[in-house]
Amino acid sequence: MSFTVNKITVLGSGIMGHGIAQVSAMAGYNVTLRDIEQSFLDKAMDKIKWSLGKLVEKQKLSQAEADKIFARITPIVDLKQALKDADMVVEAVPEDMNLKKKVYAEVESAAEQKTVFASNTSTLPITEMAALTNRPDRFVGIHFFNPPQLMPLVEVIPGNKTNPATTELAMDFIKKVGKQPVLCRKDVAGFIVNRIFIPLVHEAVFCKDRDGATMTQIDSAVKFRMSFPMGIFELADYTGMDVIHKATIEMHSRDAKVINPHPAIKQLFDEKNLGQKSGKGFYEYKGDKYERINLTEQEAAKYNPIKLVAVAANNAAWLISNNVCDKEDLEKALKLGMGLKKELFATVQEFGVKEVVKTLQDLEAKHGSFYAPDPYLLNYKQ
Ligand code: 3HC
Repeated sequence: MSFTVNKITVLGSGIMGHGIAQVSAMAGYNVTLRDIEQSFLDKAMDKIKWSLGKLVEKQKLSQAEADKIFARITPIVDLKQALKDADMVVEAVPEDMNLKKKVYAEVESAAEQKTVFASNTSTLPITEMAALTNRPDRFVGIHFFNPPQLMPLVEVIPGNKTNPATTELAMDFIKKVGKQPVLCRKDVAGFIVNRIFIPLVHEAVFCKDRDGATMTQIDSAVKFRMSFPMGIFELADYTGMDVIHKATIEMHSRDAKVINPHPAIKQLFDEKNLGQKSGKGFYEYKGDKYERINLTEQEAAKYNPIKLVAVAANNAAWLISNNVCDKEDLEKALKLGMGLKKELFATVQEFGVKEVVKTLQDLEAKHGSFYAPDPYLLNYKQ
């Protein structure tokens, strides 16, 4: 089996869809960006223009190059027309299995035989989605990170029936768009990065409740003592509470061990406090544009984030113990997908492996088996 990719169709023009369309066009592909309403597409094209403008401002592109890239992206509402001649469809519609079912039924009947399906799902089972189509051998997960324009990682997740040639094609496509693929060997809840990121958001709220720390103290500690580029509440607001909430439900329903849900996420979602995109989430924002929270080393000194280190390390350990990825790929994924400036296990060593394990055991005694330390951590040598 051999395919080449020339034309891409991206389904869904939200945060991820417009970014994937842009990076594909930046790599020279002709891209069709499809959404169900023209107004969504207009907003997406505005965001692409803003992002290209930023890259011009930072002299990463010339204005002439930016104009050419923009011209390679065609926004289209009509599905049949959008899928015409597509070598690869990248589906980036909201994370709801019922919606995905509807979309894949429509796409399967309108797409050409040659088209490979790639889903940008962050948490839904690839095998289950592939089974909605007549081409499970040519269906693969390719999970980009927000913002796709700046984050170099893409997780590649084969389903049970994905042909190895399809996985290869996906890896190759990702390299061509200037990103770095990491293979997620098993179709597990949250894949690699979200298995660490999403539970950490919940844990941060528990830390706020249980330790009486403020959000900026916790976030500053995450930034300056755990080497994250953003605080965890800040990152949740940046990602969007709709995304976090849906990912939580999906991940928890697939595997209750992965996450200890805090009700605050659902509450923010129900109140439509979705984060930066709605002007309010954990923090308040001036508008819906990119905005950062002021985090300082002084605030960081007021909170010891060992519980967050422990929960992140425990989920990381689970991934390694269960052969989803090895330690090297895990660290690569965290560096490229979440911008960690230091390896997670180097941070664990700084806090002390024994102390991290003891923290988990204390949490397990008080709050249950979610915190039970993974054997990989128990056997980890300082
Ligand atoms: N395109 C172009 N430029 C952009 C941009 C975009 N989409 N978004 C932001 N920028 C610009 C900013 O405007 C800023 O420009 P300025 O200097 O003119 O103000 C510049 O990039 C850099 O921003 P910052 O000064 O705020 O600097 P940082 O060094 O912190 O970089 C970041 C920003 C890359 C977002 C970094 O903070 C980071 O890596 N954050 C973590 C993001 C992360 O973890 N993403 C993964 C979330 S999980 C996920 O996506 C999975 C999903 O399934 C849930």
